[in-house]
Amino acid sequence: MAELTKLFKNNKTWAEGQIAKDPEYFSRLATQQAPKYLWIGCSDSRVPANQILGLAPGEVFVHRNVANLVVHTDISCLSVMQFAVDVLKIEQIIVCGHYGCGGVHAACGSKQFGLIDNWLRNIKDIYTRHRDELDAINDMTARGDRLCELNVIEQVKNVCHTTIVQNAWAAGRGLSVHGLIYSIRDGLLRDLAVRINNAEQLESIYRTRMGEPAG
Ligand code: CO
Repeated sequence: MAELTKLFKNNKTWAEGQIAKDPEYFSRLATQQAPKYLWIGCSDSRVPANQILGLAPGEVFVHRNVANLVVHTDISCLSVMQFAVDVLKIEQIIVCGHYGCGGVHAACGSKQFGLIDNWLRNIKDIYTRHRDELDAINDMTARGDRLCELNVIEQVKNVCHTTIVQNAWAAGRGLSVHGLIYSIRDGLLRDLAVRINNAEQLESIYRTRMGEPAG
């Protein structure tokens, strides 16, 4: 446990500080969480949702994976989304990428990194969809950063293609899905202006609706 001594010390200091500011802090949080936002972001240690958004524990529900992907067979991400939308009644979903994303930049190249290459393959699919635009950018850093933006835009669509989101819209919920990108260089979020809040904004092949009950 010696390797974690610093972490336990930090944790004790933090918990004591919270109680000093607000004696009811933990007892209140322990009984319920009512976050208004779902954050789907990158696992990168430099992109922590709460700190970037200035939100306290209890205020943002978080799913993070390498390169902030929403893959339609990823039971972990889908479960987070379903719980967030159906149980927590969250109506603001944020997909947030970041410039300089190692996963996205790796997907631009051909070097193998192991198992993760199968995950990053999803980003290569996005590259091929935007090949003309991306190949025209000669600077590789700029090309990768543009792919970081395009990746967010595609993941916003992937969120909206789920039955979770479309059923919430069908039920009249005011659910919005936003695409943001974060810069590690200045600490600022940028809005990619791809907000989707109804099924009519989707390509028709991706629109689904529940059938009438049988019988
Ligand atoms: Co990243």
